[in-house]
Amino acid sequence: MSAEPLEIHLEEQDLGRGLREDVRAGLTAEPKWLPPKWFYDARGSELFEEITRLPEYYPTRAERAVLADRAGTIAELTGAKTLIELGSGSSEKTRLLLDAFTRRGGLGTFVPLDVSVSALRQSTARIAADYPGLRVRGIVGDFTRHLDRLPAGGRRLVLFLGGTIGNLLPAERARFLAAMRAALEAGDWLLIGTDLVKDPAVVVPAYDDAAGVTAEFNRNVLRVINRELGADFDPEGFAHVALWDARREWIEMRLRALRPMRVRVLDLEVSFAEGEELRTEVSAKFRPEGIAAELAAARFAAHEFWTDPDGLFGVTLARAE
Ligand code: SAH
Ligand code: TRP
Repeated sequence: MSAEPLEIHLEEQDLGRGLREDVRAGLTAEPKWLPPKWFYDARGSELFEEITRLPEYYPTRAERAVLADRAGTIAELTGAKTLIELGSGSSEKTRLLLDAFTRRGGLGTFVPLDVSVSALRQSTARIAADYPGLRVRGIVGDFTRHLDRLPAGGRRLVLFLGGTIGNLLPAERARFLAAMRAALEAGDWLLIGTDLVKDPAVVVPAYDDAAGVTAEFNRNVLRVINRELGADFDPEGFAHVALWDARREWIEMRLRALRPMRVRVLDLEVSFAEGEELRTEVSAKFRPEGIAAELAAARFAAHEFWTDPDGLFGVTLARAE
């Protein structure tokens, strides 16, 4: 079957308005910040795919190892009819699950949801071509806003892979999980990938690679703002910074001004002092007991918790209660 046309829950004008609001709020705050979903235009999505192949970036390989081991069990335990994937990107690792569900039989529909139209176009076309008989319904949407519009019907399994939940701040995470639970029925399933707390000497290079791909990815948010809002950021005037926050157990990505700069954006003139930092992203690392507690607070029962052989990355299968 060919993929259905993308279902648009996030129109260009909503995206534009959201970006303007976030840029105004973030760049007038002290310290300055920007929310992470704006990294992912076509170029940003490509850069992220490049990150997943870097020698330093272990999360993708570790999560893939778990899925390769457990896909059959996940298909058996859940018996899902509909597979929904949030922040699906290329859905490459998801193929391990689609293969297992195909072997088992019974899966009817795959619903990837992402803010990135370009990533979704590619992934839906490729998956529809490779899985004949599977209905592929891509949704352009924001998983912090559009969970009430997920398709109903049949047992559902929602995938949230790649450690993307760690890119939400703790309060946003709680809101996200509550909204997720409200969108599901008791008995539906959630499969969630979380990077685990470990030696910062392993974590930091994953977010500050030698080839500088992550640095380019980080600066890409400035290029998006230049293009979409006609701003005049000089992306090369900012250095990529990845810091381990030991108290909050997260990586914090920042852009540090290499010299004093004034940037025109919207009707603002934003000044940066030399050395001033703009926070662009956090990537939280988790402990097994913390994940189970956050899920329980949202009325999900952790059913299984798996890690790769090196214990780098965790995958939790939880059931809506
Ligand atoms: N799941 C893939 C990609 C992870 S990268 C993997 O595991 O490799 C994070 C993905 O989430 C990107 O594709 C990005 O476009 C998407 N994304 C980020 N913020 C989002 C939001 N608020 N709503 C929907 N998608 C979002
Ligand atoms: N979900 C990914 C993670 O937290 C996203 C990511 C990887 C990322 N590398 C990044 C985000 C660099 C911003 C900058 O690992």
